[in-house]
Amino acid sequence: MKLGIPREVGPDERRVAMVPETISRLQKAGFEVVVEAHAGIAADCPDAAYQEAGATLTEDTADVFGCDVVAMIGPPTEAQVGLFQSGATLLTMMSPADNDGLLKSLADASVTTIAMDCVPRISRAQKLDVLSAMANIAGYRAIIEAANHFGRFFAGQMTAAGRVEPAKVLVIGGGVAGLAAVTAAKGLGAIVRAFDTRLAVKEQVESLGAEFLVLDFEETGEGEGGYAKVMSESFLEAEMKMFAEQAIDVDIIVCTAIIPGRDAPTLITSGMVETMKEGSVIVDLAAERGGNCALTEPGEVIRHQGVTIIGHTDLPSRMASLSSRLYGNAMAAMLDEMGGGEDFQVDLDNEIVRGAMVTNDGAVTWPPPPPKEPSTGIDYSKDFGKRPEGGPSVDASAGESSGVARSFWTALGALAGFLLLLVIGLWAPESFTKHFTVFVLACFVGWQVVWSVTPALHTPLMSVTNAISGIIILGGILHLSVDSSTAAIVLGGIAVFFATINIAGGFLVTRRMLAMFRR
Ligand code: NAI
Repeated sequence: MKLGIPREVGPDERRVAMVPETISRLQKAGFEVVVEAHAGIAADCPDAAYQEAGATLTEDTADVFGCDVVAMIGPPTEAQVGLFQSGATLLTMMSPADNDGLLKSLADASVTTIAMDCVPRISRAQKLDVLSAMANIAGYRAIIEAANHFGRFFAGQMTAAGRVEPAKVLVIGGGVAGLAAVTAAKGLGAIVRAFDTRLAVKEQVESLGAEFLVLDFEETGEGEGGYAKVMSESFLEAEMKMFAEQAIDVDIIVCTAIIPGRDAPTLITSGMVETMKEGSVIVDLAAERGGNCALTEPGEVIRHQGVTIIGHTDLPSRMASLSSRLYGNAMAAMLDEMGGGEDFQVDLDNEIVRGAMVTNDGAVTWPPPPPKEPSTGIDYSKDFGKRPEGGPSVDASAGESSGVARSFWTALGALAGFLLLLVIGLWAPESFTKHFTVFVLACFVGWQVVWSVTPALHTPLMSVTNAISGIIILGGILHLSVDSSTAAIVLGGIAVFFATINIAGGFLVTRRMLAMFRR
């Protein structure tokens, strides 16, 4: 089966759909690869490298589009659509919502189109997720572009010539691009804050060492399929009020807020831009969807009252070598998913293939059936006080009966606890009561300490509890050596045993943690 890699013709497009290092993988999968001459030049992939890897090079565009499968970065032009053979398969990023006419042309030409930007965001499809791969690069590059236009260091410094304040960076939207921007800005030493409508992002932002801005508003941005949902007008108002306060304080704003298939919400007004400090920078990744900043001009860099607003729409293409490599890997994974060159097929029962397929058998097949709702891992009742509208339904009668059973067992447990305490109070010796009181208090304090600490910090907390285990070992040894009763010896032995495990485990965990930070 022949696989064609054309030279991209989109404006400012420097990427190529496959790099030479992917070619041997494709050949092993049963493909004969045909590459258009100069296809990879701008991505540091010379023609000679493709030839060395075993691909056939051609100057004739029609030879490439005449292959059984064609892999591209951007959608083909109408002229290129005319070059496909009937029944061919095209894999490319397609933005189907914006390309009705092109979809129709591809369907009329009997081309099966797999839109790589429509691969469903399910765990099994992670390695095929080109949008995430590109957004990751775009987030990183956004910070590099900001640094290029920003007149100071990102990290604070104390120099002989004077003190330099660290830059303050605000990242709006904590999806893939937003988190990559947070990581890059933290890496350069800036003070980083981030905000997202989805509370699930909070922990991710904090685990990167940045501050998550919390809005005191009872609404969640978690929508269907793990994507963000459109927020209410009043939420957006409250959010913008917070951004207005931040704009005065921060030096750099990176905007990445978007809801798939929608125009970007305007979150930074021209008024906010005018309150920013002279020399501040806004990088608007949402530029291609209109921008999160009211002044963004897609594809342009402008300056407004001392603030630079960057609206590049080709950030991954500015790192063409890396983007092409990661894109090619995802593409090769999709070709594997479709059976490779030997057993290539468009399997409509495969949820990844069906989710990404936008034309097939002479018809436009987009949008695909809705994805199955994934678990968000959020306890809405705990985090927001109530379940959002449209959330997963719950069987009310099942809830009622399990609630009655739960109340019964709680009451029984309380009664048993009361009777136990009564027996201890009436008959237990005084020394036991003292120890028992300390035990109960220790359980209570331990419970509070563990559950009040954020889960991300449980590992260091465990290391710290070594100190407490040290005290327990001492107590245990004291009982073993002084007390003569069997119960005291047994309990002392158990205490020493478990505290030893805790101390040894704590040291091992600490060692592993430290190793993670060593380079
Ligand atoms: P994503 O969908 O993973 O993340 C977007 C995030 O914005 C989500 O976490 C969502 O909850 C959040 N969000 C939505 N509405 C919000 C609001 N009102 N306030 C705060 N947060 C809100 O998208 P991803 O992959 O991170 O991409 C982000 C943007 O970057 C997209 O617009 C994408 O098109 C763009 N992009 C731009 C590139 C360029 O060259 N300029 C290249 C790659 C991506």
